Amino acid sequence: MNHTPIEGFSKLSKEQKIDWLLQEYLNNDQDYKKVLEQYWSDDRALQKLHDEFSENTISNFFMPYGIAPNFLIDGKLLALPMAVEESSVVAAASKSAKFWLNKGGFKTTIINTEKLGHTHFILNVEPHKVLHFFNFKLKKKLFEATEAITKNMRNRGGGILNIKLIDKTADLENYFQLKASFDTVDSMGANFINSCLEQFGKTLKEEVSKNEDFTEKEKNSLQIVMNILSNYTPHCIVRAEVSCKIDDLKDDSGISNEEFAWKFKQAVTIAEIEPYRATTHNKGVMNGVDAVVIATGNDFRATEACAHAYAAKSGSYKSLTHCTIDNGIFRFWIDLPISVGVVGGLTNLHPLVKFSLSLLGKPSAQELMSILAVSGLAQNFAALRSLVTTGIQKGHMKMHLLNILNQMGATEEEKKYFVNYFKDKTVTHHEVISEFNNLRIK
Ligand code: MEV
Repeated sequence: MNHTPIEGFSKLSKEQKIDWLLQEYLNNDQDYKKVLEQYWSDDRALQKLHDEFSENTISNFFMPYGIAPNFLIDGKLLALPMAVEESSVVAAASKSAKFWLNKGGFKTTIINTEKLGHTHFILNVEPHKVLHFFNFKLKKKLFEATEAITKNMRNRGGGILNIKLIDKTADLENYFQLKASFDTVDSMGANFINSCLEQFGKTLKEEVSKNEDFTEKEKNSLQIVMNILSNYTPHCIVRAEVSCKIDDLKDDSGISNEEFAWKFKQAVTIAEIEPYRATTHNKGVMNGVDAVVIATGNDFRATEACAHAYAAKSGSYKSLTHCTIDNGIFRFWIDLPISVGVVGGLTNLHPLVKFSLSLLGKPSAQELMSILAVSGLAQNFAALRSLVTTGIQKGHMKMHLLNILNQMGATEEEKKYFVNYFKDKTVTHHEVISEFNNLRIK
């Protein structure tokens, strides 16, 4: 099937965009139009708000928005908002929250909150001369040139913490960085950091051109390649942990507390030494983190990228969570690097994001970091607990049952029948289909 490229798609109205798509890709089948329209909000202002979050919007993509209650975090009882499509995630979080509720709950510590960004540049000058220029001329100018940009942030207690020159010439010919660290207080800070860095790029150019210690040839060799924040924030870390006596680790699956603790710790250790397992293990952690990241209007691609880079910081990809058993005490924790905001971005715009933040008691960015780390830890606890006892499919498929039944067009009565039918059996796709067919024949 051949298609023609379109000019000016973004300038078409929503209806025109849909008509074009239908004609070009969907045989002008008007049923597809209904699919898109059924998700439009009747509230025109709300719909407009959503349309304007992004470019070329033609509909809204709904995700289930669920609640995992009973999270005791640093002594506060919270209900976590979770936006996620995977059927078992909210149930798993809720189960973990309940498990730890009467064991002191989750404790968190903010280890540090530093964000990073770089001006990447090429300069064909001896590194010692560049360092001299940076220390005695440029650094001061960079702070001065960004004073107007950083004023508000400084008033809120943040700003640029430090700027360093990094010599990367061993890795790439004539490559240097201005590496800056930032405190962005309650905002994620991407725009703030990028604005500062773009100013660094301009100031660097001006100062190099004025610098009498460089020859004309050296000055002309300067190329600012790019100015951009790093989503890797290994110094923006929150720790969340749980601990209890092994005697209190009662699990209803029938294995002893000691065996449960031992198997659980083995499972974590395997994820610490085996990247294949670590990937799935950390995916499970991020099930919990991302669901709350999305519900609170933060950028889940950034939190994913950061978490996985951190998991690979030693050179091999490892578990984000850790476990010890010492003197009869089971301890399980996560050190999560995460950069999020509670002001700016979608946080003051999206009504459900505002709801989420209110539900969480309008947390500071640091409090939100804690909540996210807890959500990741809880999710990982639930996954490992199932994996080392009953297996994952029991809970997973129980939650997936309704998806299978909906796909088969089951009635409400049939759904009730199946929930009861699988009360004490593991759901399998095959069993659902064959019992469904039996039921319909009857
Ligand atoms: C599924 O989304 C996540 C798990 O596979 C995580 C894990 O295996 O630890 C259950």
